[in-house]
Amino acid sequence: MSAKVFENKHIISMRDMNKEDLLYLIDTAEAIEKGKIKPDMKGKIAALLFFEPSTRTCFSFESAIKRMGGEALLMKGTGSTSVQKGESFSDTLKTIERYSDIMVIRSGVEGSARFASEIVDIPIVNAGDGANQHPTQALLDLYSIRKTQGSLENLKIGLVGDLRFGRTVHSLAQSLTGFHPEFFFISPPHLAMPSHIKSGLAREGIKFTELKNVEEVVPELDIMYVTRIQRERFADQEEYEKLKGSYIIDLETIKGAKAGMKILHPLPRVDEIATAVDSSPHAYYFDQAENGVYMRQAILSILTGVVK
Ligand code: CP
Repeated sequence: MSAKVFENKHIISMRDMNKEDLLYLIDTAEAIEKGKIKPDMKGKIAALLFFEPSTRTCFSFESAIKRMGGEALLMKGTGSTSVQKGESFSDTLKTIERYSDIMVIRSGVEGSARFASEIVDIPIVNAGDGANQHPTQALLDLYSIRKTQGSLENLKIGLVGDLRFGRTVHSLAQSLTGFHPEFFFISPPHLAMPSHIKSGLAREGIKFTELKNVEEVVPELDIMYVTRIQRERFADQEEYEKLKGSYIIDLETIKGAKAGMKILHPLPRVDEIATAVDSSPHAYYFDQAENGVYMRQAILSILTGVVK
């Protein structure tokens, strides 16, 4: 695998990437973290267009480009842009394209990054599109899992919380299929993993079990991936009120865990992991957020052709 395969390409969905692609990105992130590769992005500009709120994705992309000597055009919300005067999404993108070398887009609208990739000629990176995909999160999750477990192969992975609207778990489940995982999907029935993801896994011969209680599988897990129940994805706020707080991982929950079991969470968290867990050796979510910078350095430098 060489970076040539990715040059001037887009990262829209984990479904577009094969195992070799994933390992290439992970190996590059690792080489950047270890200082074996030092991409020079001087003169390159990344446009970071965040139509939806973000802390980690937005600032880790900004940190990534700046650490490599490049610059960022940062849009956090449309409040100070001409979208407020009625400018369309496509005209906004066709304009920003003229000012930048690569565009990173977060939007609440599913398919918006794919649409962007069809109308502009610079690489587009999907930084989350509604409840659909969050591929750069899945990539940093894979990097985090390999760092903690030594390998991505044959792991037992519990996905906990909002598996219906949680774009991070959709992307992660799809991206692990080539590595022979066994999944445990732990959620309230209303927030179960969507059928299209489950049927895709079944077609690949991936074993998965759906459960309501996390405690019964904790001793088996290598990775516990916890997600927030997302208020903003519920049309019916009464439904959200009923389901929030369905899972709270505390020190009691993880008492029987394997020594090497790590808890991941894409963050932000509300109350689904007790803060007492933060000092446990199982907690890995803030390290995971740091890994996002190395993975996003890899993505930006490879797609712009700086790493060849
Ligand atoms: N993990 C993640 O996407 O976090 P932000 O919403 O803060 O970017």
